[in-house]
Amino acid sequence: MHLEINQLQKQFKTKRGLLTALQDISLHIEEGEFVCAVGASGSGKSTLLRLIAGLDTPTAGEILVDGVRVTGPGSDRGMVFQSYTLYPWMSVAENVEFGLKLQGVPKAQRKQQAAYYLEVVGLSTFTKALPKELSGGMKQRVAIARALASKPKILLMDEPFGALDVQTKEAMQQFLLEIWRSTSTTIFMITHDVEEAIFLSQRIYVLSARPGTIRRELQIQLPSKSNPQIKRHSTFQKYKDDVMKLLYEDGMQTNRICEVQSSVMGNR
Ligand SMILES: Nc1ncnc2c1ncn2[C@@H]1O[C@H](COP(=O)(O)OP(=O)(O)O)[C@@H](O)[C@H]1O
Ligand SMILES: [Mg+2]
Repeated sequence: MHLEINQLQKQFKTKRGLLTALQDISLHIEEGEFVCAVGASGSGKSTLLRLIAGLDTPTAGEILVDGVRVTGPGSDRGMVFQSYTLYPWMSVAENVEFGLKLQGVPKAQRKQQAAYYLEVVGLSTFTKALPKELSGGMKQRVAIARALASKPKILLMDEPFGALDVQTKEAMQQFLLEIWRSTSTTIFMITHDVEEAIFLSQRIYVLSARPGTIRRELQIQLPSKSNPQIKRHSTFQKYKDDVMKLLYEDGMQTNRICEVQSSVMGNR
């Protein structure tokens, strides 16, 4: 698997004119990597992921998966969203099987694959449950199982733990690392949570705000991630300071531009 993005731009037509959400985005993700993009709210994170997923089309530039240009959605890219996207009337197992059904996988194989991935996410005893019977963390585990069941080349995650409480979030981060290690899945996750990005990924792209551009690429090297205490380690804190500084400086610049704009407008 090799994901490559070249000179990507995305503009939206709005009532107030053209809005540039992403500008000049070039990045790559290699087989088996866990990469995060971190950016403030409105920096185009979801837009970037939607473009990779093929749910929207770029204004300029290209996205290549194993050298093939993305022109629409495909089972080679699995998606997990922040909001719970399970079908409420389907059981946990049916939810996981659904994508496979669409792909025309025969029933017996579907059941087997769903059971396997529900085992991977530790929900074997909940196969018959309905989503409403599950906690937020469990729902996201089903969503992860569903995405993995289609055996995508890459798992795309848009702030998947953003709606969870702190404790569940930490448990889910640990859990995701275990899944990543045991399944050798390639993961590209988007988050505004700097600690989450550093804890999970091997590499981070720091996005600037409005329009989203890549401010910095950081390689993360930490002694051990199996211990959540690593977040208090000095190396971890140093990474955090570096990323926060980039995001803060960027925020200041954006604020200054807004101030200049509003003072210019005010003088008219
Ligand atoms: N369909 C759309 N039409 C118009 N503007 C959009 C659309 N989707 C996103 N935007 C704008 O693009 C910018 C980036 O949005 P988004 O990708 O959701 O950011 P993030 O996920 O980082 O918070 C925002 O200013 C948002 O209002
Ligand atoms: Mg978003």
